[in-house]
Amino acid sequence: MARRLSVLLFLLLAGLLMVSPTQAQETEPLRGAINADQGETTISRHIYGHFAEHLGEDIYGGFWIQDDQNNWQYNQQVIDALNQLNIPNVRWPGGCFADYYHWKDGIGPRDERPDQVNTIWGAVTEDNSFGTHEFMGLVDRLDAEPIIVGNVGSGTVEEMNDWWKYLNHEGPGPMADLRAENGREEPWGVEYFGVGNESWGCGGQMRPQYYADLYRRFAEYLRPQVGTDPYRIAAGPNGDDYEWMRTLMEEAGYMIDGIDLHHYTIVGTWENKGSATDFAEDGWFEAMQGSHYMDELLTRHSTIMDQYDPEKETSLIVGEWGMWHDPMPGTNPGFLKQQNTLRDALVAALHLNIFNQHADRVRMANLAQTVNVLQALVLYDDGQLVKTPTYHIFDMYKAHQDATLLPMAFDQGVYEHNGEETPAVSASASQDEEGRIHVTLANTDPNQSRTVTTELRGQDVSSVTGRVLTAEQMNAHNTFEQPERLTPSSFDGAQLDGNTLTIELPAKSVVSLELR
Ligand code: AHR
Repeated sequence: MARRLSVLLFLLLAGLLMVSPTQAQETEPLRGAINADQGETTISRHIYGHFAEHLGEDIYGGFWIQDDQNNWQYNQQVIDALNQLNIPNVRWPGGCFADYYHWKDGIGPRDERPDQVNTIWGAVTEDNSFGTHEFMGLVDRLDAEPIIVGNVGSGTVEEMNDWWKYLNHEGPGPMADLRAENGREEPWGVEYFGVGNESWGCGGQMRPQYYADLYRRFAEYLRPQVGTDPYRIAAGPNGDDYEWMRTLMEEAGYMIDGIDLHHYTIVGTWENKGSATDFAEDGWFEAMQGSHYMDELLTRHSTIMDQYDPEKETSLIVGEWGMWHDPMPGTNPGFLKQQNTLRDALVAALHLNIFNQHADRVRMANLAQTVNVLQALVLYDDGQLVKTPTYHIFDMYKAHQDATLLPMAFDQGVYEHNGEETPAVSASASQDEEGRIHVTLANTDPNQSRTVTTELRGQDVSSVTGRVLTAEQMNAHNTFEQPERLTPSSFDGAQLDGNTLTIELPAKSVVSLELR
């Protein structure tokens, strides 16, 4: 997005500024324009999607908890919190766990389901009390679409095909009959189905050509059922593995509805990612710079997809994204539990702006993960729930769901740290069905506020309201003891003068605006 916006800016404002963004005085307003009458692309609500794996305390101890008599039940506190976000989908059961999972272990009477060991995550007992019916009950309570990821790595075509029929075949037939025996007469009508997860890694260590052939074989048996057309999702590349993308598009593209790219933002190295809460400006800067790399990944992968699919029929999905820190001290390292600060909030805001800007190709994304794991929306422990800063970003951005992306161009400015640069301001804009315009902006610079002056073209507006998320400290975060330390507040730093909108963005802040 940074590159695209800079080019557009140059064309748009060359006559006005006569300098490149890097030469512009940081104290000068960053100028731009939004073309409110030129929106064409819908920002799919599925960009605002989530991910729940059998990992740590995401399902067990997160969504699914035990009462005093050790009976499993849904966690209503978590469901109530998430329901405020209009979450569009949940991806399940993994992640790496998906290629270990045998779905028939998770159906039927709970006390007859076998215990397993979750060998990939924490070596804890998986009692299979949360299975297909429980997941479908969860998405029903969340009013979200299910995304189910099948097992290619250690499963068979028959097993996946049986699951597909169990979910979707109206019967009569063995899988529909089994579903009815287990209490569900009607098929669920699950459309989104992943054919393996990270098949280049924990999903089977495959090479792209081999996976492309396997994809074709497995996907062939995900056939339309009465009332349900499959939306078949291929395991996509690991970050910048462009060869994986090219091979998939060339060999199997005609059978793929979505390709699931995964990329995490880490600070430092995989071996030493650093603390979620204890970091200095170096760690802040690296996270901001790393987030902008998502724009490069999407641009490059989209270019490859365009070569094979100029009509953009196949979606690029970002099925796992977010910050990955070292685990919270004192927790099982296999549980990937971490705190979540203002830094994570900025990272989420940058990613969502980038996804919005790529809405012509990116039609689904899933933050990893929802409860207690990685960049979680909520942390939950023994009756206590806290909303993370990332939760608040999803709340501030939810108005973009299914709205029309508005073309915008503006000078992003520069945040400079130790001789390195990254864009200071990130933004996206959309218009909803009622004609309201929504603008979200993030100022990554922790030291300096920025003024953005934007001309709104093609529609008259007369009022602007907004919310802001910011704090004094880069590592501000919420805890069970102080759950409201970092929450959005109303924003009075945006002014309209005719159709010119001027926004004073505080240092290290995220702002969402609504214009009418
Ligand atoms: O989200 C944690 C893990 O990260 C997932 O299981 C896997 O797909 C990815 O490598």
